[in-house]
Amino acid sequence: MCGIVAYVGRKNSVPIMLEGLKRLEYRGYDSSGLALFDEDNNVKIYKKEGKLIELEKFVSNTNKDLFSTIGISHTRWATHGVVNEANAHPISDPDGTMALVHNGIIENYKDLKQNLLNKGYKFKTDTDTEVLVFLVHYYYQVEKCLTKAVQLALKVVEGTYGIAIIHRDFPGQIISAKKGSTLILAIGDNEFFITSDINATIKHTKRVIYLEDGDMVKINHEGYEIFNSDNLSINPEISEIDWDISAIDKGDFKHYMLKEIFEQPISVGNAFRGRLADELNTVRLGGLSASYSDLRNVKRIQIIGCGTSWHAALTGKYMIESLARIPVEVEYASEYRYRNPIVPDDTLVFVISQSGETADTLAALKEARAKGAKVFGITNVVGSTIARETDGGVYIHAGSEIGVASTKAFTSQVTVLALLAILLGRMRHMSPNDGLIYLEELKLIPEKIEMILAQNEQIREISKSIANCTNALYLGRGIDYPVALEGALKLKEISYIHAEGYPAAEMKHGPIALIDENMPVIALASKDFLYDKLVSNLQEVIARKGRIFAVANEGDELIATIANEVIYIPETLPSLRPLLNVIPLQLIAYHVADLKQLDVDQPRNLAKSVTVE
Ligand code: F6R
Repeated sequence: MCGIVAYVGRKNSVPIMLEGLKRLEYRGYDSSGLALFDEDNNVKIYKKEGKLIELEKFVSNTNKDLFSTIGISHTRWATHGVVNEANAHPISDPDGTMALVHNGIIENYKDLKQNLLNKGYKFKTDTDTEVLVFLVHYYYQVEKCLTKAVQLALKVVEGTYGIAIIHRDFPGQIISAKKGSTLILAIGDNEFFITSDINATIKHTKRVIYLEDGDMVKINHEGYEIFNSDNLSINPEISEIDWDISAIDKGDFKHYMLKEIFEQPISVGNAFRGRLADELNTVRLGGLSASYSDLRNVKRIQIIGCGTSWHAALTGKYMIESLARIPVEVEYASEYRYRNPIVPDDTLVFVISQSGETADTLAALKEARAKGAKVFGITNVVGSTIARETDGGVYIHAGSEIGVASTKAFTSQVTVLALLAILLGRMRHMSPNDGLIYLEELKLIPEKIEMILAQNEQIREISKSIANCTNALYLGRGIDYPVALEGALKLKEISYIHAEGYPAAEMKHGPIALIDENMPVIALASKDFLYDKLVSNLQEVIARKGRIFAVANEGDELIATIANEVIYIPETLPSLRPLLNVIPLQLIAYHVADLKQLDVDQPRNLAKSVTVE
């Protein structure tokens, strides 16, 4: 949700910020802008509606000579106010002396706006951010101190913010502050950056400080100074990033999503590497080890997430209940946080989030904590807010995921949940031999994913007959059901085809009314004890002229006589099946969107990191 890049150094900030914004475009891509000082130290704002390319074109066509060694910039995902140039950031004060970029939401902006209107302020945008800018302006008039003005303004706003400000009276300085929205200070060689994500600055430096809520940082060409919420100067530890720019390059792939789908043999391996305790036929999860006695005594688990992470959570429920026989509740974070959830004693709560920044998940974490629960995180982004707020947790180590549609993060989340299920199972009644069987099979999963990816061309061919549909139904039973949900979500978010995932047997209770010759039914026909029942469900589809695209296990000859198309995948243990079954569904969604010539990596209306409610 919105991305910020700001720069102070010896170089021209313009290309640095534009390149940084490109790396943050996944966070929002409806408009963008930047603000700099001209040679007379006036603040100049340049902004454009549309994707970043519009701003890039504008700069390279008409403003080639823009130069400033200090600047702030922003890519927007609209919350308050339609998508247009006026509402794009940076936002200026009434005198044009200041520019501010903001990631987050000012929740009490209506009341504040009314107060400012009463004071005579005239608003030019529909954004909540303009309220914050005007507040700083107002307090600056009163206090004559910009730092104080920013602090006073931030005191009266409710909500979340990551901000960066430049002001004509301080031409060598950026002021930045955060609460609830990630903001990172990246420290280079005589240059400093503020960013919402290290992707934007990793090319320049690997040294970063993750700012804490309430922190304010002042940067100039000589250095930086950080103040905490008590206004005390602090010196937080500098972290060293252990990956480099090559990890976020698209390489030869047409889209990030395709690259990330193809990375899964490696990313899944990374999720379990170093965590298999072969000598004991169990699993070692370092981030939870201090809480092993809690895991041993847990009576109930709640797993909370949103979107694809919620689907991973639901997959985790099937795994944990089956392998460890512990009841698991799966919760939408957005519902959990507001419905006064019941969290009995001996409940452990897991929050699951790729970005580690999802606002609803973070709020649910806080609610679970307020109920006295221990909360663990399953996150991808190291140092993210959720990772830092939890009592412990497990990183999925999927590497940077840039495509807005989550793929490799899902399989890595499911891998970690499988590890958790095995660990919990071995702490209870799972035998060493069964533990061994699971560990050995897990080690084979990357190779089996490779075998599915090798069918990419065939899956593209099959996708051609789905690309012209307007609806699609995904069916699966048991642990295949969450995978059906995930397949449907992938298709709808990037191809804009309406798709639903259903437990196959539920079809006859309603969705069957939709089936006709135009309705593709994508069925997960795994060979297990429910296979015959699934086949009966598919017969019901055929009887109504539906078209069946089956994902089935190698050697299944029966399915070929029923389905219009079959994608054969290797067999695995039931609890690990989602790691394989989801791959063809990801590829179908990708190819359908690509065949429709849609913007696969930046689908309309979406953003990768949903830091607003
Ligand atoms: C779908 C997708 C979203 C996210 C959801 C939660 O492809 O990516 O549904 O899964 O917004 O995001 P995280 O996992 O970052 O909390």
